[in-house]
Amino acid sequence: MKAILKLFIIMIIFLVCLWWALFHRSELRWDWTTINVAKISFDKKFIFGVAGAAYQYLGSENSPNSNWTDFRILDKASQEFGSKAGVSADFWNHLDDDIALMKEMKIKAFRFSFEWGDIEPEQGNYDHQAIAKYHDLFGKLREHGIEPFMTLHHFTHPKWFEAMGGFEHEKNIEYFVNFCSFMVQEFGDDVRMWATFNEPTLYATQGYIWSVWPPHQMNIASAGIVLKHILQAHVAAYHSMKKKKPDVRIGFVHSVMQFDPYHAWNPLERIACYYLNRIYHDVVVNFFSNGTYAFNIPFYVNITAENADAPHTIDFFGINYYSHVLLKTDLFGEDILKIAYRPEEIKTDTDLVIYPEGLYRAIQDVSDRLTSKLHIPIYITENGIADVRDDRRALFIERYLYALHKAIEDGYDVRGYFYWSLLDNFEWHLGYSMKFGLYHIDFQTQKRSLRCGANVFLDVIKKTYGG
Ligand code: GCO
Repeated sequence: MKAILKLFIIMIIFLVCLWWALFHRSELRWDWTTINVAKISFDKKFIFGVAGAAYQYLGSENSPNSNWTDFRILDKASQEFGSKAGVSADFWNHLDDDIALMKEMKIKAFRFSFEWGDIEPEQGNYDHQAIAKYHDLFGKLREHGIEPFMTLHHFTHPKWFEAMGGFEHEKNIEYFVNFCSFMVQEFGDDVRMWATFNEPTLYATQGYIWSVWPPHQMNIASAGIVLKHILQAHVAAYHSMKKKKPDVRIGFVHSVMQFDPYHAWNPLERIACYYLNRIYHDVVVNFFSNGTYAFNIPFYVNITAENADAPHTIDFFGINYYSHVLLKTDLFGEDILKIAYRPEEIKTDTDLVIYPEGLYRAIQDVSDRLTSKLHIPIYITENGIADVRDDRRALFIERYLYALHKAIEDGYDVRGYFYWSLLDNFEWHLGYSMKFGLYHIDFQTQKRSLRCGANVFLDVIKKTYGG
């Protein structure tokens, strides 16, 4: 009798999923053969920019006080740890040349981050030489009419902060808040657009679940706690910064990456995607939309918090979008589920595919659930492709810009788009193998050269601003 009841329940779940799949296909797909990507246009006021991050452009040599400095790159083939990050694009020593490239491209904004470890190498002691470099950067950008969009925490922080346990402990939040107040006091006249954090969900997963980034832990509950403290730190930093400089705009940069079931009718895939989307995406959107924090997977982890103030602490929302992930049942495999690709999907050099419709979905979802409710704009703070052969970059840019244009045309309030990245750079645990740059860098000579595939982006910028 019990077995019949179980079978009956399974049948019901299956039928509900089938019904849901047939009438609610979540994985949006467009017929690209009927779309003319050349026809898109953007308003003159729309901000086109490029993005980078301090540690990724400076490397370990130029940032000796970062928690990433001792990180060694894992060679995929030999599975051995090799060199440190070196000087990467050696950005401070090529500042004039790189700003000249931005000027030539006619971009309106540059998104970058502060290297906290360089600025505050010891707790409470600020390095005035390091500070001067950023003043120089902002002065030069402004000379060319390029607006800086600055992130205060882009995955890295000082060694001393890491040694205290970073964001694992609530009491450490105050060190980050102190740093933010100092920064807005120092740079509040140079920088109007600020983001407290870059992609904390990724930071928490890579460092505390997958263990591929510092501090190399493997504990899902720690990831949930770290993320909670980061969101609390955002709220506290927002208030203390606004107290110092009420006119600055302060946002938050979140990575959106949808988990989609390979078979829309498959309950196992749907349930797994549902929970992954919850802890990777909903957790942040809900925090800012209604002040509740819920990082939970039944019987596994349950970390919650409330902060009714959260929705009042955000002036814009930054979306970093690259792609989605398809999950497919693999009953005889190690993990029951595996990452899969549809035959027609074009892969990039990372494990991700080209999925422009996902950018549209990301904008739609964030806008419907958060930004339109709060009446704040969205910026696409990162989007780009790793393409060493440069044979997919043009297609990627054309199609993602089409998706962006369509979202704006459909009424979503997106004010800017930043291409990741201006230059090739240090891609965290993947080292220098991933080529995201519009400009290729020869790391022996530091020579920059424009990749052919980048021209599509340059043409759209020219078409938008004239010249
Ligand atoms: C991230 C970061 C960048 C990456 C970029 C390409 O998403 O991990 O914000 O630091 O380099 O996204 O992967």
